[in-house]
Amino acid sequence: RSPRKPPRKGERRREQSDAMATATATGIAINHRRRPAAPALATLPPSSSSALSPIRPSLRLSHSLCFLSGNRYSKRNPKTRGLGVVVCAATEPLKVMISGAPASGKGTQCQMIVEKYGLVHISTGDLLRAEVSSGTEIGKKAKEYMDTGMLVPDEIVTDMVVSRLSQKDVREKGWLLDGYPRSSSQAGSLERMKIRPDIFIVLEVPDEILIDRCVGRRMDPVSGKIYHLKNFPPETEEISARLITRTDDTQEKVRSRLETYKQNSDAILPTYFDLLQKVDGNRPREIVFQEIDALLQKIRTDAVKFKTLEVTNGNSNSNLKLAASSRDNWRGIPTRLNNIPHSKEIRKYFYDDVLQATQNAIEDKIRRLKVEINIPELNPETDVYRIGTLLELVRTLALSFADDGKRVKVCVQGSMGEGALSGMPLQLAGSRKIMEFMDWGEYGALGTFINIGSIGAREVEEQDDLFILMAPQNAVGNCIIDDMKAMTDAAGDRPVILVNPRLKDMPASSGIMQTMGREKRLEYAASFENCYFFRLLYYAGTQYPIMGALRMSYPHGYELYKRIDESYGKEKYKLIATFPKRPTGEEINAAFEGKPRQAIES
Ligand code: AP5
Repeated sequence: RSPRKPPRKGERRREQSDAMATATATGIAINHRRRPAAPALATLPPSSSSALSPIRPSLRLSHSLCFLSGNRYSKRNPKTRGLGVVVCAATEPLKVMISGAPASGKGTQCQMIVEKYGLVHISTGDLLRAEVSSGTEIGKKAKEYMDTGMLVPDEIVTDMVVSRLSQKDVREKGWLLDGYPRSSSQAGSLERMKIRPDIFIVLEVPDEILIDRCVGRRMDPVSGKIYHLKNFPPETEEISARLITRTDDTQEKVRSRLETYKQNSDAILPTYFDLLQKVDGNRPREIVFQEIDALLQKIRTDAVKFKTLEVTNGNSNSNLKLAASSRDNWRGIPTRLNNIPHSKEIRKYFYDDVLQATQNAIEDKIRRLKVEINIPELNPETDVYRIGTLLELVRTLALSFADDGKRVKVCVQGSMGEGALSGMPLQLAGSRKIMEFMDWGEYGALGTFINIGSIGAREVEEQDDLFILMAPQNAVGNCIIDDMKAMTDAAGDRPVILVNPRLKDMPASSGIMQTMGREKRLEYAASFENCYFFRLLYYAGTQYPIMGALRMSYPHGYELYKRIDESYGKEKYKLIATFPKRPTGEEINAAFEGKPRQAIES
């Protein structure tokens, strides 16, 4: 099996999965704000939750605070597993990334930020221009690209940035990265090195303004200060006389740079999804700075709250065990989940989250896995359900395993029953065909490393390493479980992953519940271990507003989040409790009301 590795790995996917290797530890702060009692929840399926220790009423997790080295999966890193002391962010200097189109004002804002915060400003544009003017080999090569407004090759820029970031002053004072990363591969390089900012600022300015800003820009070679003939004329005649114009500031080149920016900028946003702050850069520079300053101040204030906290992982006396979020490359729950269709960043977030949990479980030799993810677009009970989202999720999983050289069989349930009773679950109708037409990557994975099949023992071939069953479900009058069982028997110790299975009892076509062999069927369905679970929680009988979310990502427990409204239409999810097993509706309600765990159980 697996006679060869794929000839070319999908670069982006590789970056994504490597990015997951990022091991971050977390500062935890205790926030004693009182929470109002929550109305009753829609009932959740009962859980066999055992006695649980009391937790503090409200805890907040922060992420990307400390960088710990680790191998592919942070849970395997002994440093993170038995983490004794979580070093708080307050001890760390600020790490800021600023991005935006050419002339959006990055350099101008950086000067103001440096002045106030003393960070080390690392501008790839400045570094490259310095190489060009010194006539170095790097400079000669870079010039060709800069003159046409294209991106200088990654290997040149990344080396420059990484070597600068490793220097002592940067480690001590913090950094302000301007113009890097500019492509998904550059972002991937930083992720692999576990370099993440505290904030990712994007300056937004309309195109027509940008051209004028570039053409009117002048630089002072002595002070490095940026001027504009109209907007910020130099203070003295002397300065005015020595000003220079950048060679790439002609109208034509600016247009080309702008085009390059547009082609690349979207690709990096998913990496910094949770840290993204868009700032309107089309205002006087002092006003723009006021907003940036407030954002940086907030990071500082929050960091100060994160006192060094002793967290004994695994100790039942601990107030809160380190949640999954703190140990994997987890970036918080995306907001605006009720906005349909989901943005591609939201979808990507969940694909990555599911992938990481699944990989963790397979690495731990769990062979029968179940993914249950119930965001609006993946909830077939709602009319915003999108089969495309399910297909994309399955593709992400399959391609990632194929990247690792595994032969994956993606199985879509076919027609069931016979004669007039034959049919297939509505949700899956046509999905196999769509799957065949989907883009399966550059190296022709479909037909080699990924094959599409159905559900049943006959589908299991010698060459298959892993099976993904897409939303297997009972159809009216027909039970898929017997076919699944035959298939898993044939698969032996090869992993079988169920993505959003629906294996509950279904009434037969006669309207009567199937009862024969029911117990065995349910027992079989329960033999699949949840490696990922996500569900939004709503106030009883509503779909809005969202009350919170329940998340579980193998190997960690269930995390309960409360959705909190913020100013300007923003929202956030705040961790309020963790559970070793899936909590019941009652346990969730009690946690929302801030009742101590013991009181719930009595
Ligand atoms: P780089 O130097 O980074 O250029 P850029 O991204 O095009 O950005 P600019 O420096 O032109 O603009 P800015 O946003 O800093 O604006 P500024 O504050 O000066 O990169 C140059 C080249 O290097 C690239 O094209 C590429 O080839 C290469 N490169 C760089 N990084 C790379 C990477 N990571 N990978 C590969 N290649 C890379 O302001 C502009 C003007 O507007 C000024 O005159 C200013 O006074 C004025 N202004 C600023 N703010 C305001 C305001 N609020 N209101 C009115 N005017 C304002």
